[in-house]
Amino acid sequence: MGNVQIKGVTKSYGGVRVMHGVDVEIEDGEFVVLVGPSGCGKSTLLRMIAGLEEISGGQISIGGRVVNDIPPKERDIAMVFQSYALYPHKTVAENMGFPLLMAKRPKAEIAEKVNRAAEILDLTKYLDRYPKQLSGGQRQRVAMGRAIVRDPQVFLFDEPLSNLDAKLRVTMRVEIKELHQRLKTTTVYVTHDQIEAMTMANKIVVMRDGRVEQIGRPLDLYDRPVNLFVAGFIGSPAMNFLQGKVATRDGRQVVLTDQGIALPLDGVQVEDGRAVTYGIRPEHITIGEGGIPVDVSVFEPTGSETLIFGRVGGVPIDALVRERIEEEPGKTMSFRLDPRKAHVFDQVTGQRL
Ligand SMILES: Nc1ncnc2c1ncn2[C@@H]1O[C@H](COP(=O)(O)OP(=O)(O)O)[C@@H](O)[C@H]1O
Ligand SMILES: [Mg+2]
Repeated sequence: MGNVQIKGVTKSYGGVRVMHGVDVEIEDGEFVVLVGPSGCGKSTLLRMIAGLEEISGGQISIGGRVVNDIPPKERDIAMVFQSYALYPHKTVAENMGFPLLMAKRPKAEIAEKVNRAAEILDLTKYLDRYPKQLSGGQRQRVAMGRAIVRDPQVFLFDEPLSNLDAKLRVTMRVEIKELHQRLKTTTVYVTHDQIEAMTMANKIVVMRDGRVEQIGRPLDLYDRPVNLFVAGFIGSPAMNFLQGKVATRDGRQVVLTDQGIALPLDGVQVEDGRAVTYGIRPEHITIGEGGIPVDVSVFEPTGSETLIFGRVGGVPIDALVRERIEEEPGKTMSFRLDPRKAHVFDQVTGQRL
């Protein structure tokens, strides 16, 4: 069973603590994405699972076995890095078979496993080529092939697509997901890209400054971020935030901004007078009568939708709408905020209310 348990894990580098007690449960067969800004500890956590980095405290188990003191090559994991780390003077077949050669497996077995991995990854035609004769995407696939041949309990990926151009990243994203659906091997995947996290994960772990902020299914994080950090990090374009106080107007609860603009609420249990941050995603705003007045500065048409940049009482607010907008910038438009999609956070703690 390829489940991974991370319990109370801490990490210090020469007295400086960078990981402050991380708990993550990864079920067998799951595709878990560790996501967060640069420096939050994603690679460190992955390298601790791999055994490439010692843990300072806590416990990591793989397949029910505590691996704290077990060296990397006995952990039954395979890691794919951002730099593919292929051997330039070895062919594709030799690169893929190398871990098995090191493990002193018989030649016939190596050939069979390399051929099978090549088939899965559509690399059969390239087995005799050298890395420099391959495109970036193909090299990335060879690196994955080298992980697959070992048939490990767990795949570990550290930003494997960062060196590829935008279009290829999307293609490889789909390929990795298909590969996972086919092999069903437990996967821990690190990225700083929240779109990659949203599209690939069964479960996302959002990290910041060596701590876990929230763990959940992609759409649960999108629908119910537990705090301002997750709310601002997950979703693109990012959620709008407006400051105000909860008040009752005409029998309905609203958030009243300092400029006296009433932001609609629905079904939020917060007492009047509380200082809050009101969050609304750009895609939950429509243009129409009865909304809030927004000074619009820029329209970005993408063909399928239009992103509208504006300000309300000097505070930025963006809307993402399906229709084409034929207006000139510099106007005031009425933004209707969907009260059922509003998020309310405590202004001081940043926690969801
Ligand atoms: N070998 C090291 N020595 C000292 N500090 C390190 C070392 N590796 C990582 N760190 C620190 O640990 C923190 C987490 O780093 P890292 O795991 O690489 O972040 P991420 O992969 O999320 O960008 C950072 O503050 C980084 O500076
Ligand atoms: Mg990293």
